[in-house]
Amino acid sequence: MTRRASRKKPMTTHVHLRDVIEDDLPIFFEHQLDPIATQMAAFPARDRQAFMAHWAKIMGDDTITLKTILFDGQVVGNIVSWEESGERDIGYWIGRVYWGRGIATQALSRFLDHVTVWPLSAHVAKHNLASRRVLEKCGFKISHEEGEEFILKLSANETDSAP
Ligand SMILES: CC(C)(COP(=O)(O)OP(=O)(O)OC[C@H]1O[C@@H](n2cnc3c(N)ncnc32)[C@H](O)[C@@H]1OP(=O)(O)O)[C@@H](O)C(=O)NCCC(=O)NCCS
Repeated sequence: MTRRASRKKPMTTHVHLRDVIEDDLPIFFEHQLDPIATQMAAFPARDRQAFMAHWAKIMGDDTITLKTILFDGQVVGNIVSWEESGERDIGYWIGRVYWGRGIATQALSRFLDHVTVWPLSAHVAKHNLASRRVLEKCGFKISHEEGEEFILKLSANETDSAP
């Protein structure tokens, strides 16, 4: 078996981003209900009313960039960038059945092509090794820690290491 053929998880190339539409929201809602995912992200699930109100608000905010992640044409998650305390932050969420296929890494890499405000920051729970790995594979580096989180950053001139 060749080295390539023996890879446990083939890197997918079927990941695309598009603008979020209302029909995506029930899918995102289900993704963020998953208790394993919420524990991983250290972020509590919202109930349907709070979730829909939050998304209506952020979809109407021009300062926030929101993209739906598609894998083989299916809605599998979202990736979002927003301004907080003078920083440009980024976050993403993938439905659990799609984990471990390189989707978040590809989605973040594609998202970086559209970023115009640098540097980007990401707040990651210290135990969220998968998310940290996604960020590091796209060139982010740990800047500092705040309580139970690592803060990773990426500047425009560091994006060459993105896959
Ligand atoms: C974190 C998350 C986005 C990762 O999505 P994904 O599509 O599975 O990520 P990828 O497949 O692109 O890459 C995951 C990487 O983490 C690694 N990984 C996964 N679980 C891991 C673990 N427990 N420890 C160490 N590395 C781990 C994978 O091996 C892979 O690295 P590799 O390609 O070097 O093997 C997804 O699990 C998720 O949405 N979680 C819930 C929400 C969340 O945590 N969002 C981020 C908030 S900062």
